[in-house]
This record gives sequence, structure tokens and C-alpha cells, in this order.
Amino acid sequence: MAVSMKGHSLVSVADLSREEMWQVWELGGDLKRKQKAGVPHRILGGKHLAMIFQKPSLRTQMSFETGMSQLGGHAVYLGPDHIQLGKRESVPDVARVLGRMVDGIMARVFAHKDLETLAEYAGVPVINGLSDDEHPCQALADLFTIYEKLRRLEGVNLTYIGDGNNVAASLLLAGAKVGMNITLISPQGYEVKPHYIEQAKAGAAISGSKLRFTDDPADVGGSDVIYTDTWASMGQEAEAEQRARIFEPYQINEALLKHTGGHPLVMHCLPAHRGQEITDKVMDGPNSVVFEEAENRLHVQKALMALLIQ
Ligand code: CP
Repeated sequence: MAVSMKGHSLVSVADLSREEMWQVWELGGDLKRKQKAGVPHRILGGKHLAMIFQKPSLRTQMSFETGMSQLGGHAVYLGPDHIQLGKRESVPDVARVLGRMVDGIMARVFAHKDLETLAEYAGVPVINGLSDDEHPCQALADLFTIYEKLRRLEGVNLTYIGDGNNVAASLLLAGAKVGMNITLISPQGYEVKPHYIEQAKAGAAISGSKLRFTDDPADVGGSDVIYTDTWASMGQEAEAEQRARIFEPYQINEALLKHTGGHPLVMHCLPAHRGQEITDKVMDGPNSVVFEEAENRLHVQKALMALLIQ
């Protein structure tokens, strides 16, 4: 039976139950088919979304903005200089004002706490479009993409190799909840934050997911999916050179793919730094699904907006 998600916020991917995630993916698949077939689906006609961006974006802005238009609604971009969240006006006051004018808020912020505050005060659904700690929309689109390709999630072996960042944290939480086996490979000192590991272990105890954490970049045997992301996230530009040296052995290249012993899907949330975390040959190779993954941000987030706002 469908679970009503209307009025809920998505601050962490852990806010969604397993059933709710599947609901998002099922509707996402339906909306994707409709979009491809040119079938109108203006189910958010007359609705408005505010999009707060403290950081740059290509995929997130485009997918939310075009997604809202395709659903018959309208999205308003509020860039870093527009509202200066927490500087020109307090975060609760921004939330209170926007909540009286729009039907939903998407926010890309530095401090995860700001998302929690927006969700507390807005009175309308707030969607995390990336914070320093989590990237739930990315994880939902990634698992949808894996399901499209492999027709299953339970028991799929996903190996994330690289920085234990916001993308890694959300993948770990979502994958553990739906029964995927997740291996996180990061250099010492760059692992996913311990509280996410504990949260994922709790999810895995229910789903039967197996979780592994290592710093050995060759430990990729049996992977169905190999995933990487930038070595220096937005806000870490000053560390980029030092990180490039530390992460060099963690590059996804042809030699690393051979260690898997198979032909895993290759994923990256993008933007990619070709020649750093991933080589051109792998990114443009037959195993890569990175651009389908990017496209699926659109379909999955449309489903999410429809379920939360409609
Ligand atoms: N993956 C992702 O969130 O892309 P953007 O930073 O371009 O939005």
C-alpha cells in the first residue's frame, strides 16, 4: 500500500523508509517513461519551488528547475548573493518567509544544520540538494540507475572508492537500508564520518546488507558497481593538491577494474576530474553509466517533488 509522503522533508536519505524509497523509484520510472513518450504529467500545476544555492551546480539546478517545469510548476533560483543565508537574514526567518510564498524548498548549503533549521521553520517540504554532510537526491538517483541496469538492489555489491564525503555517506545509508552490500575504500583519515557508519550498521542489521570498510584500493574483487567522486569537494579547494597526492592510488582506471574480476558498472556523481579520480578511458568506456546517472537526477527528483508537495 502506498505510504503518504506529503508534507515531509528530505534532509537526510535516512529520513526515508525502504518502502518510501521504492515509492520514489517506482514513480520516477513512470515519470521517466511519460517524459520520453511525450505524455504530459503536469501534476504540480500552480506549485512553486524555491531553490537556495550556496554552492555552484549544473545537475542539481537543471534537474530541479526543468523537473518542476515538466510537472507544470515553477522554480525560482536564489543564488549565493541573493539571500545570503544566515548573513543578511537568519535561517529560521528565511524559512518562515519562503514557507509563506512557495510549496517547497530545495537547498544546497555548506552546513547540514542549516537544512535541518530550514525544515524546522518552513512549514513546507525542504529537500537537501547537497550539504557538506549528505547528498540524498544523488543517492536516490544512483540506486535507481543501478536498479534500471541490474534489475535488483538486494545483494548487489557496490564499492565506493575515494573520499568518504557527503556522496559516500548517503550511498552508504541508502544502500544499507535496501540490502545492498557496500564496501567503502578510503585512505586513512578520509573515511566516512563514524556516526554514518553506525547508522548504516543499524540499517544493515534489518536488511541483511553486508558493510565493509578498508583503505586497500585493490580490495574491489566481486564488485557489481564501482563508484567514485571528486577527491576535493566544494569548499576543500585549498587541500586539492595534497589530496591529489594522497588519493592517487585510489584512481578508477583500467588496472583497478581488472582487480574486480568482472565488468562492474562505473558510476560517478559528476562533475568528474578526468585524470584524477577517474581516467578518460574508464569514464568513456563500456562500463560507464555516469551520464544516465546524471539524467536520472531529473526523473527521481520529479518523483520526490510530486510525492512531497502534491
Ligand atoms: N552531482 C551533482 O550534484 O552535480 P552538481 O554539483 O552539478 O549539481
